[in-house]
Amino acid sequence: MSEKERISFGSKLGVVAAAAGSAVGLGNIWRFPYELGQYGGGAFLVIYLLCVLLLGMPVMMSEFVIGRMGQANTAGSFRKLAPGKKWWIVGLMGVLASFLILGFYIVVAGWTLEYVVQAVGDRFSGRETATLAKVFADFSTDTFRPLLWMALFTILTGGVVYAGVKNGIEKSTKFLMPLLLLIIIALGVRSVTLPGGAEGLRFLFQPDFSKINSSVILSAMGQAFFSLSLGMGCMITYGSYISKKNNLQHTVVEVTVLDTLIAVLASIAIFPAVFSLGINPAQGPELVFITLPNVFAHMPGGYFWAILFFVLLAVAALTSTISLLEVIVAYVVEEFGFKRHRVIALVSVAVLFLGLLSSFSLGIWSDVKIFGMGFFTLFDNATSKILMPVGGLFIAVFVGWSLDKNAILNEMSNEGKIKVGYFRLFMFLVRYLAPIGIGLIIINQLGFGKLLSLE
Ligand code: PFF
Repeated sequence: MSEKERISFGSKLGVVAAAAGSAVGLGNIWRFPYELGQYGGGAFLVIYLLCVLLLGMPVMMSEFVIGRMGQANTAGSFRKLAPGKKWWIVGLMGVLASFLILGFYIVVAGWTLEYVVQAVGDRFSGRETATLAKVFADFSTDTFRPLLWMALFTILTGGVVYAGVKNGIEKSTKFLMPLLLLIIIALGVRSVTLPGGAEGLRFLFQPDFSKINSSVILSAMGQAFFSLSLGMGCMITYGSYISKKNNLQHTVVEVTVLDTLIAVLASIAIFPAVFSLGINPAQGPELVFITLPNVFAHMPGGYFWAILFFVLLAVAALTSTISLLEVIVAYVVEEFGFKRHRVIALVSVAVLFLGLLSSFSLGIWSDVKIFGMGFFTLFDNATSKILMPVGGLFIAVFVGWSLDKNAILNEMSNEGKIKVGYFRLFMFLVRYLAPIGIGLIIINQLGFGKLLSLE
């Protein structure tokens, strides 16, 4: 596709909505709270915020710069900007990461659809925590039911991606995001006012720094990359659709703030209720699916809130799966010249296969372990704790050390039309802090840290 023909997002709001749509998803509402619950509460939050600020924001800007300069899919952008070099492999790694993320993400996305149906059937009210936990366990370990929802979700994703960047992606996010925000705030108010809820706020906002260790740091960093959709070319692909007129700096700030806000608000909705109801905060992936139905059961108008919430959660998941699928589809279509609809169909089938492995690993195949993990956990850990941070490291190094500094400034300033206040800070972060920081965090966790006596 020539540069002129390349589609771009229509309006300014469209760009932010699409990038925020990718960022805001199950990562904020499902994954963030349970990771925080498992990895020490407030201390995790502090490290997470530092990772977002010091690693996430510079990597997001780097991805936008690469994509908008390269005007191509993730591997193609690298190839155009560094012809004859091997940087495109970083893009390819991103395509692989997208695949693996989709491989467990669609399972959880499918769960949200099941919960829409449960909400409509008024299945939460009057039920105790133990019952809600059993309902979730029975459903998620079932062999067929989760597969049906997962398949439906994958078809929905393929359909929107088929409709194209502008019609499908942009329109579906614009007005649903504020609605999601509103509902989480309402949930938060109810949760905080439950008896004993203050304990949850303390868990969230009073950091116990003795809880920090190398796995807490790696998990917080991984979650930052996961939540902001970074390190695997998603924001490179979307960056290539951003018009040359858009202000990249504003986009980075807006997407990051919104994403972080939703994760924190979701935790405010969850932890007071967790403590009030006596649920274990380190419960794991089922945390949200047990806690929130309980909150709805105790809320005036809870029936309607519950339906609205799970519908919006499914939509938030959808705008994320769309962006994941788009990374792969843009790559295959542009690099190999296949027809878009065929690629979408083929990739969807492959993703469904991974999803099946993930879903079975929670039920009938719970004994099958690779590196000591089931498929679900394996796909999750391999992407958020390895592929995405390593991808982010290379992306930072590429922008910091390989691209021409003036070309970067040109891109960030829209050819000198807007001011770039933090350019030197940005260059410092991508040259030194991000690569060294990410590198040390990974090495430390692998245990080399002990050899180098970093601990
Ligand atoms: N950021 C998404 C979430 O928080 O749910 C997940 C995600 C989407 C990760 C797209 C990576 C990506 F490319």
